[in-house]
Amino acid sequence: MRVLFVCLGNICRSPAAEGVFRHMAPDVISDSAGTGHWHVGEPPYGAMQQAAAVRGYDLSDLRARQFTSADFTRFDLIIAMDATNRRDIEALRPVDATTPVQLFTDYAPNQGMTHVPDPYYTRDFDGVLDLIEVASEGLKSSL
Ligand code: 4NP
Repeated sequence: MRVLFVCLGNICRSPAAEGVFRHMAPDVISDSAGTGHWHVGEPPYGAMQQAAAVRGYDLSDLRARQFTSADFTRFDLIIAMDATNRRDIEALRPVDATTPVQLFTDYAPNQGMTHVPDPYYTRDFDGVLDLIEVASEGLKSSL
């Protein structure tokens, strides 16, 4: 099983999701990417890394990359952090690609959230980690 987490910058939400999920499900191949190109090659945002490290998730080896249409064949499941991410991912879908693209919040139905809020703007790094942990448990149980 290969799962790809996707957000906009690939420096906050999706690398946090990758780090949490690979910790919970080490047998699953996990990766992350951003629909945007601005932060390609950068490590996760400092405050995101620190909040994750407090909970035991080491994000320091991750580097941002941009989502490409080839990811539809490299992964079995693509997880978007919000509806804009999902739309931008779907715009790159090859005609013959059947890989599903799901919203991460669909795996945390009891949280009452329709998207993973971007802590780059909200500054709520702990709140987003709470949501990511619940959604990761839900995703793991669904596989
Ligand atoms: P992310 O957050 O999508 O969760 O990685 C963002 C970080 C940076 C920017 C956008 C989103 N930015 O435009 O610089």
